[in-house]
Amino acid sequence: MKISVIGGGSWGLALSKVLSDKNHDVLVYDINEKIVEKINTLHICFQLNEDIPESIRATSDIAEAVNHSDVILFVVPTKVLRPAIESMLPHLKSKKLFINAAKGIEPETFKRVSEIFEEMIPEAFLKGFVALSGPSHAEEVIKGMTTVVTSASKSEEDACHVQNIFHNSDYFRVYSSTDLIGVELGGALKNIFALASGLLRGQGLGDNASAALITRGLVEMAKLYEYFGASKESLMGLTGIGDLIVTCTSPHSRNYQAGYKIGKGKDLNETLDSMTMVVEGIRTCEAAYHLAHKEVLDTPIIDAIYNIVFNRVHPQKALESLLARDQKPE
Ligand SMILES: NC(=O)c1ccc[n+]([C@@H]2O[C@H](COP(=O)([O-])OP(=O)(O)OC[C@H]3O[C@@H](n4cnc5c(N)ncnc54)[C@H](O)[C@@H]3O)[C@@H](O)[C@H]2O)c1
Repeated sequence: MKISVIGGGSWGLALSKVLSDKNHDVLVYDINEKIVEKINTLHICFQLNEDIPESIRATSDIAEAVNHSDVILFVVPTKVLRPAIESMLPHLKSKKLFINAAKGIEPETFKRVSEIFEEMIPEAFLKGFVALSGPSHAEEVIKGMTTVVTSASKSEEDACHVQNIFHNSDYFRVYSSTDLIGVELGGALKNIFALASGLLRGQGLGDNASAALITRGLVEMAKLYEYFGASKESLMGLTGIGDLIVTCTSPHSRNYQAGYKIGKGKDLNETLDSMTMVVEGIRTCEAAYHLAHKEVLDTPIIDAIYNIVFNRVHPQKALESLLARDQKPE
């Protein structure tokens, strides 16, 4: 099959390798011409410094990418999702199946990525929408290391179609799901707790605190799942607890790395400037914090991270406030 990939960063190229390993004809579009050149001439993923198959081609012409295929995979940070969709719109001539592999929620609107696609793409060009999510670091996938993810859509047919496009029995197993809300929420929310996990490690806390964070983080995720009408099975699945575990325990996680630096006392802006790749947890934390407050949901860990990041509360002070809350049953 022909497949277009919008975003040639670490995750975009790791997924392009999965697609290329299944003999799909992959054309990557990236806004950064240097990245396009590195893909076409050196056949490398610049961000991860890893080789990619020569069969993966790249273009800096959005029209060429859009016309290459009726299946378009988006892998751009959610912060630039709207301009990326906007740049594609004038070139749409037929219905396309859109897949999204980015993980985030829009702070200003609380919209999930599928809702942004539904809002921005005219029905005449929107064949369907599928989210691909789960515990998956690009660093491992690009090396062909065993990974298991979920393909989710409101349409079971589309979810299974995308499952089939990506699944291989060597290293990339894909489950399907019709709980699009749960799958999108899990991928976005876990990044807040990855930030928290890095923060507490940076502060010198240990495994006990880390395990407590994952379990109490899951409780806060459950409240947001319930609010949005997502299924409990997704919370307990790959895109819920699965992604939460990997992101809270692995130094590959950008959000963990950012949290770690802040926990070590580095300034937030300095930390973000030093990160070459996207830190989605900060925008998602902003969205979740405001939503939780609007809906009076009790989410103390999300509040603590928000206060550290946006109100410059010292991480030690935020931890003390968390521990000093009233005693209560688990
Ligand atoms: N890296 C991972 O392991 C991983 C795993 C799962 C999900 N994700 C999610 O995937 C998304 C992308 O992450 P990443 O790690 O690939 O980020 P990245 O920073 O490595 O790459 C992002 C790429 O998008 C490109 N880009 C920016 N604006 C664009 C536009 N308008 N049009 C086309 N391309 C544009 C950039 O030039 C860059 O190459 C994030 O939401 C992240 O949370 C990442």
